[in-house]
Amino acid sequence: MTTFVLFGGTGDLAKRKIIPALYSAFVNGRLDANFSFIGAAREVLTDEEFRLRVATSIEAYASKDSGDNPEKLAAFLTLTHYAKIDARLPADFDGLKKYLHTSDVNATLFYLATGPDIFIPVVEQLSKHGMVDGNTRVVVEKPLGHDAHSAKEINSALRNYLKENQIYRIDHYLGKEMVQNLLALRFANSFLEPLWNRKWVQDVHISISEQVGVETRGDFYDRTGALRDMVQNHLLQLVSIVAMEPPVNANPDAIRDEKVKVLRALHKFTPDEVSKKTVRGQYRAGAIDGKPVIGYQSEPGVPPASRNETFVAIRAEIDNWRWAGVPFYLRTGKRMASRSAEITINFKPIPYSIFGKGQGPLRSNRLVITLQPEESVQLFMKAKEPGEGIRLSDVALNLDFADASNLRRVESYERLLLDALHGDLTLFVRDDELSAAWAWIDPILNAWKNESEGLKSYIAGSWGPAASSYLLAQHGAAWDEEYVEG
Ligand code: BG6
Repeated sequence: MTTFVLFGGTGDLAKRKIIPALYSAFVNGRLDANFSFIGAAREVLTDEEFRLRVATSIEAYASKDSGDNPEKLAAFLTLTHYAKIDARLPADFDGLKKYLHTSDVNATLFYLATGPDIFIPVVEQLSKHGMVDGNTRVVVEKPLGHDAHSAKEINSALRNYLKENQIYRIDHYLGKEMVQNLLALRFANSFLEPLWNRKWVQDVHISISEQVGVETRGDFYDRTGALRDMVQNHLLQLVSIVAMEPPVNANPDAIRDEKVKVLRALHKFTPDEVSKKTVRGQYRAGAIDGKPVIGYQSEPGVPPASRNETFVAIRAEIDNWRWAGVPFYLRTGKRMASRSAEITINFKPIPYSIFGKGQGPLRSNRLVITLQPEESVQLFMKAKEPGEGIRLSDVALNLDFADASNLRRVESYERLLLDALHGDLTLFVRDDELSAAWAWIDPILNAWKNESEGLKSYIAGSWGPAASSYLLAQHGAAWDEEYVEG
């Protein structure tokens, strides 16, 4: 018997991601036969009313391969129930108990897709009502805290009721196919390892750009900002996987042991370094794909004079033997020119060109790992253009995953839900990783708080403020879209 209880069951994340992912797992036969799903939220709803919402969310957001299958949908809905729970009303938790069976339990998963302020009250009540035991797992959504101190408080309060291996801190980037492929690329191939270090790597770029604005989350986003929303978690998780040492095996803790070492080795900025090595921006009105869009300060829920950042670029460094002196340029923003998530490893230039100038592009080799919108790995090399004489051009050895396999793609939320149901912690963030990430973020947050001048504006639909280009240009580097062949 597996029971999945979703707190925040009527929220946006539930609607768009979690319920469709659960349904996809169901349709593809990945859930056990005795599965049940209980949505929990403050609203007063009947089972039928909640089922209607579940059906609407599946219709709008389920992946294509979940198909149009009325029978499966009906079967899923009969397993679906609703419990009205206000986390501050202990009596509400009584209503949940009847769904939690005491015999033949495989796992009970409580997914807290709510604000962090109610993580602790919920877990406390679950525990007081006797609903926490050895088979319990709790998934907590980001943001886990708003700085190092609050994250520590949440972690230690959770640990009053749960063991560390019962806590699944979700970062949906870790569930993306290409992030796992990065592990395969690095640790199942021999030719990259000798090059994967300061001797051969010039710099590393990790960029996650979005075209969407703050959508319906203006109020939340204005209290969060791009640094907390994307850098503290998704970008730093990608840094840790790109930069980690080979783990001793693929067990969850072996991998997480190596990731946390990277996060601890991130060079912490002084206030002066923050102003030199970070750029923050906020979008103003512009256009996305030719259609006009409003500026951040006019978004619903955002105060008109907000100083919150919707864009961040950082020149990070890792103080260890493998990476000393290699810049890791990190960038993320909303309302940018295109949607993409990409990791680029730029290798050092050749020591000397025997071909002389004017023979074609001299940009050095690079490995580009694209997470989205498409999944690919490309190794850019130099080759001679066909024809007379020697003229060089950039050609890519291209591994296109859409073409490479027609096996079913598993969306990141589905993968992570199934991992949590099966008790696999590999793709979840451990408490020490979270602390190390916040410890690096805190000095940036503090310096920004004390420095009102730093926020730059950028036009919606651009690649961010000019200062972001300058951050790299002063070191002779450029973001990929700005690269001019010399
Ligand atoms: C979430 C952020 O964690 O990631 C959102 O809170 C952001 O602001 C989203 O839009 C991006 O995820 P993806 O998978 O669409 O790149």
